[in-house]
Amino acid sequence: MSHDATSPQHLLIEDRGAVRVVTINRPDKLNALNRTVLDELHAAFAQIADDSNVRVAVLRGAGGKAFVAGADIAELAALNPIQARDFSRRGQQMMRRIETLGKPVIAMIGGYALGGGMELAMCCHLRIASDTARLGQPEINLGVLPGFGGTQRLLRLAGRGAALELCLVGKPIDAQRAYELGVVNRVVPFEQLEETTFALADQLAAAAPQALRGILDAILIGGECGIDAGLDYETQAFAVCASTNDMREGTSAFLERRKPSFHGD
Ligand code: COA
Repeated sequence: MSHDATSPQHLLIEDRGAVRVVTINRPDKLNALNRTVLDELHAAFAQIADDSNVRVAVLRGAGGKAFVAGADIAELAALNPIQARDFSRRGQQMMRRIETLGKPVIAMIGGYALGGGMELAMCCHLRIASDTARLGQPEINLGVLPGFGGTQRLLRLAGRGAALELCLVGKPIDAQRAYELGVVNRVVPFEQLEETTFALADQLAAAAPQALRGILDAILIGGECGIDAGLDYETQAFAVCASTNDMREGTSAFLERRKPSFHGD
């Protein structure tokens, strides 16, 4: 089902309850990110931000072989410096739109997540990888560097040593190594990837949206500022939760020994 007046060319968009599933659909090019895909992803996530019926998003690639095998090298090859700056900013802004969404986004990585694909996975909040996945920042082999936020997000996710090694050497790593580095949250057999991802998505979709938003924002903002500012943000987000029916529902349900039902108000 499409949610735009003009259907995206390279995305499939469907809802499974309150979970919006966004599939990058260029399997013949291993879902490489050209300008059209970057723009369509930005629009798709702007819609998710505005739609209160959507509580969680899952981002994946079509075809079973790749999540995304990188920025489109055919487009990359023809960029002059001005166009390269625009391309980098376009990708960065789209990924920042995802990262600051205020709703959880899960990357379902069932194969290659290279270059821009690893960057895209890293702007999501959780990453579930199949045991067949390979992740890496091989841009160095093309004479460039990660330009969609990879140097910054890999540094923050895995630390300076791992970020430098992955970007300088350019050799992809398998899913298990990515798990050890904290780059992916879970590794599952390929056949269980969908089931695991959607079970997690459903669990998050049933949680209280304002509390989810507070956690996402507090951890994102806290990573960029000092502890006192981060603690202050946490306090404000905590106080906002106390204005919600969902908090009353969650605490009452616990005391009444029943399952809570959160409605997002
Ligand atoms: N940009 C554009 N096209 C890409 C692409 C990318 N990043 N990655 C793969 N493709 C295309 C290939 O050109 C090929 O197209 P074709 O059939 O029209 O020739 C198609 O996708 C299939 O890829 P192919 O290389 O034949 O598959 P493979 O199984 O032999 O290898 C990879 C898979 C992922 C190892 C290999 O495609 C690869 O190294 N891709 C580039 C990874 C990269 O450097 N990414 C960072 C970009 S900044």
